[in-house]
Amino acid sequence: MHDFNYKHNNLYCEAVNIEELAEKYGTPLYVYSRNTLISHYRKIKEAFRPVNPLICYSMKANSNFSICKALVKEGAGLDIVSRGELYRALKTRVSSKKIVYAGVGKKESEIEMAIRHRIFFFNVESIPELELINKVAGRLGVRQKVAIRINPDVKAGTHKYITTGHGENKFGIDFVTAKKIFLDRRKYENLSVSGIHMHIGSQIVKSGPFIKAMKKVADFIKDLEICGAGIGWLNIGGGLGIIYSKEKPQTAKEYAGAIMPILKRIKANIILEPGRFIVGNAGVLVTRVQYIKETPSKKFAIVDAGMNDLIRPSLYGAYHEILPVRSRSYSGSKDIRVFDVVGPICESGDFLGKDRKFVRLKEGDLLSVMGIGAYGSSMASNYNSRLRACEVMVEGDKVRVIRRRETYEDLIRAEI
Ligand code: LLP
Repeated sequence: MHDFNYKHNNLYCEAVNIEELAEKYGTPLYVYSRNTLISHYRKIKEAFRPVNPLICYSMKANSNFSICKALVKEGAGLDIVSRGELYRALKTRVSSKKIVYAGVGKKESEIEMAIRHRIFFFNVESIPELELINKVAGRLGVRQKVAIRINPDVKAGTHKYITTGHGENKFGIDFVTAKKIFLDRRKYENLSVSGIHMHIGSQIVKSGPFIKAMKKVADFIKDLEICGAGIGWLNIGGGLGIIYSKEKPQTAKEYAGAIMPILKRIKANIILEPGRFIVGNAGVLVTRVQYIKETPSKKFAIVDAGMNDLIRPSLYGAYHEILPVRSRSYSGSKDIRVFDVVGPICESGDFLGKDRKFVRLKEGDLLSVMGIGAYGSSMASNYNSRLRACEVMVEGDKVRVIRRRETYEDLIRAEI
């Protein structure tokens, strides 16, 4: 479900004509629907209501201030992964008691800043990290809550770059080591080792891997209880897949239905960290066709957005639907041509879509790359010295710029 629909052949975001947005704000342009964003947050909240979880939106999916703020206003906490995300999180005025911090490479300065701001949980990914947090907490005179991130060694059935709960991945701690940590937890005198965290990957469309991992973790928690090491919090991460093409992902309700029986048996408070599920379908990238180029082997639609604006197709071979902002009627297959939609960047990997069919596509046409709300603008760069694009948020018939287009001054601002 999303709020990008055609009305009289024009693509709208909620009540706003996307063509008008492109005329006013230029292209490339990220356009978000506030309603889609909030309704997805509410869907997951509603689905898990029986266990009343703390939902910490995973900021890395889209860390734009207005998007995070809108979710914080709805009651969300934030899942962070760097001091930069901590900085952004604090700007939203989210309660620091709703901030959880994951990542394998937290630096001492980052740990210190997070403790000073009294974040809720560190999700710890190794013993040396645990020792460092213990040391810093001692120095600051704080008793810090930490959760041990378990690597349950399951296959998530997703792209290998975004699977995180397999034994070969750099994330989390194996069960044997984790058990030793829990049994020994008093030795970390400045820590309250009181939670378990897991996150097995992203864009997972079936509940199977979640259930498998959850069962392993539930058995582990039972084992810990028998050994007298109960936990207070269980963070089950994010990872819920969405529809980009023909996927049939589990709904939030189905996901909750599948794992709730296991969660209810565990006597712990629950945390969730969804990113993509909340924001993925809430954004599109609007781009204009600059040139139509035909070679003996291919037809290219060269557009003004590139891999610097959306790297997912280049990096993961990810599929994003590409729709014309103004749809054309067609009178037969002779009107349809197949194009690779490519950007202006000097790399053959710079494409947004391959072998896509369009009706009488021509130079100057606007295209909308769908489902880019998550890991679109947050992974954007200035490669080829391209300016980072403008982002706007639509709410009904209202439009707000939530990030202005960069200027050439911005481009060199930090350089000497
Ligand atoms: N929690 C942790 C600890 C994570 O590492 C992630 C994502 C999430 C939660 C949120 O996962 P989500 O609900 O969004 O699946 N750039 C890739 C995705 C990388 C995901 C990294 N971790 C992509 O564009 O597909």
